[in-house]
Amino acid sequence: MAESVTITDNRTGDSIEIPIENGGVSAAEWKKLLGDTWFYDPGYTQTAATRSAITEIDGDAGILRYRGYPIEQLAEQSTYLEVAYLLVYGDLPTAEQFAQWKHDITYHTFIHENVRKRFMEGFHYDAHPMGMLVSAVAALSTFYLDAKDIFDRETLDKQIVRLIAKMPTLAACAFRFGIGMPFVYPDNSLDLSTNFLSMMWKVAEPRFEANPKLARALDVLFILHADHELNCGTAAMRMVGSSHADPYSATAAAAAALYGPRHGGANEQVIRMLNTIGSMDNVEAFVADVKSGKAGRLQGFGHRVYKNFDPRAEIIKKAAYDVFEVTGKNPLLDIALKLEEVALADDYFVSRKLYPNVDFYSGLIYQAMGFPVDMFTVLFAIPRVSGWLAHYKELLEQDQKIARPRQLYTGSAQRDYVGVDQR
Ligand code: CMC
Repeated sequence: MAESVTITDNRTGDSIEIPIENGGVSAAEWKKLLGDTWFYDPGYTQTAATRSAITEIDGDAGILRYRGYPIEQLAEQSTYLEVAYLLVYGDLPTAEQFAQWKHDITYHTFIHENVRKRFMEGFHYDAHPMGMLVSAVAALSTFYLDAKDIFDRETLDKQIVRLIAKMPTLAACAFRFGIGMPFVYPDNSLDLSTNFLSMMWKVAEPRFEANPKLARALDVLFILHADHELNCGTAAMRMVGSSHADPYSATAAAAAALYGPRHGGANEQVIRMLNTIGSMDNVEAFVADVKSGKAGRLQGFGHRVYKNFDPRAEIIKKAAYDVFEVTGKNPLLDIALKLEEVALADDYFVSRKLYPNVDFYSGLIYQAMGFPVDMFTVLFAIPRVSGWLAHYKELLEQDQKIARPRQLYTGSAQRDYVGVDQR
């Protein structure tokens, strides 16, 4: 064997040589020697739970590729809808396929009137839009009963189109409800990003004219957020999908995972943190407080896989300047730049390989574009749905077993029940 490890079971003296393939070893090989002995790996930091041909990340080299295409090229030359097709179907579309895809997505942007009237408008006035989105996506499964037919290719494709198309509509609907503005119907003459901006901001004008630079910047952000291999949300998608739940239910689970502040909720936390810091003069003291544990973690810093730099953060930083040319500079930018400079010169962050991640600058852009902070994770979820669905489709094609990790039981040994009067 070219590369291998040999393990010996000291209980029996038996040995086995296991090949190292693609940088890892197969648990099935270990099992041949170790039988039912399990690996203890909370957080799955050392466990590959699937094979996937969708997104490649090399964290040390700062590489991110969708289906082989470098993220830098896609962000520069492609559009979110083209990238969504690429993720789901594996190749860039031909002109004809792309025209059909754009048409299909555009003509599925409407949501059933009852989703809006009976469901979305049933929320409390101050409901978090991400909570509304998670629930609304789950509720869609009750509107499209054919979605349960997950092994019929055509039916599954239809749900994929519906979900990608309806996410911006649901997101804008949640926002408009929260500020007491009437729902804006999708405009089928607009592209996805411009249409989303129209549903967000249109007031009484006959047609909302989005600034093309802002619409493009949003589209680039959508490209950057479309997939990121087996992060917490995508793992949730695959976990739930492995039980053969319908794509809406699985997507709702993935979106719920994304909602957390350690994941997609971090962009919201970055703005809150920058507001807490308040001024460039306070940056050094704040960094000292992070190091001593008093101020919690530096939001928007650090990543499970990127230990050099996050390539998305580099592209976003550039996009931020394009947006500020239109909107004026976000006053928090100077604090963010100083924070980045101080942290990157500090051994605490350097030695732990903590660099700005995708969330560090995205919030500044969203805020400059007028989005309230509680919409930030929603903006992350809109394009991520294409990545989730690509993984869901791949999972079904792989016919993977139901996901069922092992546990290490640490509770009581058997004890006998005693009635409440004797406790
Ligand atoms: N600020 C200060 N210290 C940190 C940070 C941070 N942001 N992130 C990690 N550390 C320290 C951590 O305390 C630990 O130190 P020590 O070795 O002394 O105990 C060391 O770095 C390793 O941290 P870890 O928790 O083992 O790293 P992880 O890979 O489990 O966590 C992370 C990755 C992203 C959850 C974490 O870096 C973090 O909480 N960052 C802040 C939240 C954030 O920006 N999240 C967005 C991630 S990117 C978008 C997405 O995935 O959705």
